[in-house]
Amino acid sequence: MTTSSHIITKTTTFLILLLLFLSSFSICLGTRTLNSLYKPPPNLLKYHNGPLLEGNIPISILWYGNFKPSQKSILIDFILSLTPFHHPHTSNRAPTLSQWWKTVDDLLAMAGKAKTHIFISEQTTDIHYSLGKHLNKSQIERLTTKRAKTTKEGIMLVLTSEDVAVEGFCMSHCGYHSSYSGEKEAYIWVGNSVNQCPGQCAWPFHQPLYGPQMATPLVSPNGDVGVDGMVINLATLIAGTVTDPFGRGYFQGEEGGEVEVVAACSGVFGKGAFSGYTGEVLVDKTGNGGSYNVVGLTGRKFLVPAMLDPSTSSCSPMV
Ligand SMILES: *[C@@H]1O[C@H](CO)[C@@H](O)[C@H](O)[C@H]1NC(C)=O
Repeated sequence: MTTSSHIITKTTTFLILLLLFLSSFSICLGTRTLNSLYKPPPNLLKYHNGPLLEGNIPISILWYGNFKPSQKSILIDFILSLTPFHHPHTSNRAPTLSQWWKTVDDLLAMAGKAKTHIFISEQTTDIHYSLGKHLNKSQIERLTTKRAKTTKEGIMLVLTSEDVAVEGFCMSHCGYHSSYSGEKEAYIWVGNSVNQCPGQCAWPFHQPLYGPQMATPLVSPNGDVGVDGMVINLATLIAGTVTDPFGRGYFQGEEGGEVEVVAACSGVFGKGAFSGYTGEVLVDKTGNGGSYNVVGLTGRKFLVPAMLDPSTSSCSPMV
């Protein structure tokens, strides 16, 4: 039975971006009237006293379809870089991905839970598309049951390759997290959108389909628009799963319309972000010119959305 489902909706993103745009607009005008008329709702990130994931969190990955080794290593490095690691590139002043993840550990600590240690417990490949190339939500859930018993208490991650269509993909979301078996089995699905809707699910590495347009899309940090886009959605969903695995964890707003810790900052990557503009991010001048805001293991670069700072309830970008 599905107990909860949290999707990254385009509508939410759009509304948040619109709000950001409106608020920066009023600041630009310097009109106190507009600022005082606009009273934002008390949008605190609130803990609803339900279970959270904590401590050792094994992730079991199902690669559904055709992923190149280079694509797998981007996503594996991303997951493994969440847990603090020794960073040999001390000359690189960029923040680490584990510093970004620290907000999640802070939220767990505030709820009296143990610090996370995320690791990959298992990887399975379904190169023959055992359920075909058009999947509905119940088929995604069926795929998640193939995990090893050891991953209970952890997260099952289903990743679909660029040639797999999934119910609602591109129409209403780029991925989601959900659960079944009461409050035991949490899972995440994220798809590679590169051929289907990169403007929606791999923005800012591709021109958006609707809304304000940037002059040019950003160069993706690992040279793979689809997979660097998956990193953004996966970042949002892993943080959402750990802090709100079954719908009674941390979120803003009412149950049913809840907005989780990273989803609240969707579209915000650096300081000064507003609708259609990521904010200021770092550029890899010695490499491929890719845009990023954190580094991971072996110095790999990632662009991740801001997280909500629980003390101020505002989005706090890493750079
Ligand atoms: C999902 O697809 C499968 C296979 O096509 C079908 O048997 C099943 O009824 C579908 N489920 C839903 C909820 O649409």
